[in-house]
Amino acid sequence: MNKVAQQGGGVLADNVLPIMTGRGGAELTIVVPTLNERANISLLVDRLRQSLPLLEWEVVFVDDDSKDGTMLAVRDIAASDHRVRGIRRIARRGLAGACLEGILSSSAPIVAVMDGDLQHDETCLSTMFAVLQRGEADLVIASRYQDNGGADGGFTKLRSNASRLATHLARVLLRTQIDDPMSGFFMLRREIVEAVAPRLSRQGFKILLDIVASSPTTIRIREIPYVFAPRLHGQSKLDSLVALEYAGLLVSKMSGDLISTRFLAFGLVGSAGVVVHLSVLHALLPHGLSFAVAQTAAMFAAMAFNYTLNNAFTYRDQRRRGWRFLTGLLMFAALCSFGVVAGVGVSTLLYSGHSRWWVAGLAGAIVGSAWNYITNSAITWRRQ
Ligand code: GDD
Ligand code: MN
Repeated sequence: MNKVAQQGGGVLADNVLPIMTGRGGAELTIVVPTLNERANISLLVDRLRQSLPLLEWEVVFVDDDSKDGTMLAVRDIAASDHRVRGIRRIARRGLAGACLEGILSSSAPIVAVMDGDLQHDETCLSTMFAVLQRGEADLVIASRYQDNGGADGGFTKLRSNASRLATHLARVLLRTQIDDPMSGFFMLRREIVEAVAPRLSRQGFKILLDIVASSPTTIRIREIPYVFAPRLHGQSKLDSLVALEYAGLLVSKMSGDLISTRFLAFGLVGSAGVVVHLSVLHALLPHGLSFAVAQTAAMFAAMAFNYTLNNAFTYRDQRRRGWRFLTGLLMFAALCSFGVVAGVGVSTLLYSGHSRWWVAGLAGAIVGSAWNYITNSAITWRRQ
């Protein structure tokens, strides 16, 4: 037997020098979600360079295919600075999902999430890192509502009130003691996220709250104050849909993940669809149409309405556009027709078994909706 076979990989390991790069892996990964932030990228990297001179850090921009050339700006800098990299996501939207992908792309023991629009104070990063490294906490949140922190400059009055209400709801409903559970600026041990990653919602803005609420063990949390600065370039992407998604997250966490945010949205759209259905029927009947014709038209109208709304809202991270919008409508209609058959089947069966009319009707509606939801999630808006 020759020497290599006898000693296995040991021979190679002894004789070949490791490639020396002169630097170890990053100690800290800063994940920055971006959507049309081109003008802010180089400013942010400059600020990181200045505020973290003693750390081995890297920054990962996770971009949802911005149309303003954000990714070009990232690549420009990355070409001459190994600490900068970017992930370009295609046909996907969602702040939480982008943050999650950035965190999971890291191999550093500690990761931070920070906005890309300069509203978060980068000078907090080294303090946050020190707290984690000393083992005093597992998660450090830069919080806007602590003694010296504040958000007056960065917030409109409406935003400020809405944010306070959301914070209050989260504290009461999810029983968290965190002062600013809505913060988009935090740092934690990567293993905490790894453990709960499959359970996290990829939509909405509330990744921090989701991580804390989903974690099976108690996380030691520390909050430090900072001032939420006004946005200099570009505009906020927080809209009323984001607020609705937040409400969905609260319900879904309160139900122990039994009811997903998506299912709630699907149900909400479906209920609105019933109103559309009845309105169309009501509008058409007086025009001398037979009931069957009016009912068919009403069903198609409701179906198109439901599809359009679900595409725009419920599945906006998988939104179908152009031709795919039309083919999606056909799939949706086909799947929902089966849903009707299943629903009618179940309710007829129950009714003939002497259930009350409304029990039979409700059971049919639930079976039909569940079928529609499950099949459309898996087929019409399946993950690409
Ligand atoms: N990749 C990706 N995908 N990035 C996104 C998306 C998205 O769908 N939506 C927003 N972003 C990026 C923005 O480009 C920015 O860097 C960061 O996420 C925050 O977005 P803003 O639109 O500036 O949010 P904001 O300033 O209104 O909200 C801030 O305050 C909230 C609390 O009220 C953020 O810090 C939120 O995280 C925070 O919850
Ligand atoms: Mn912002």
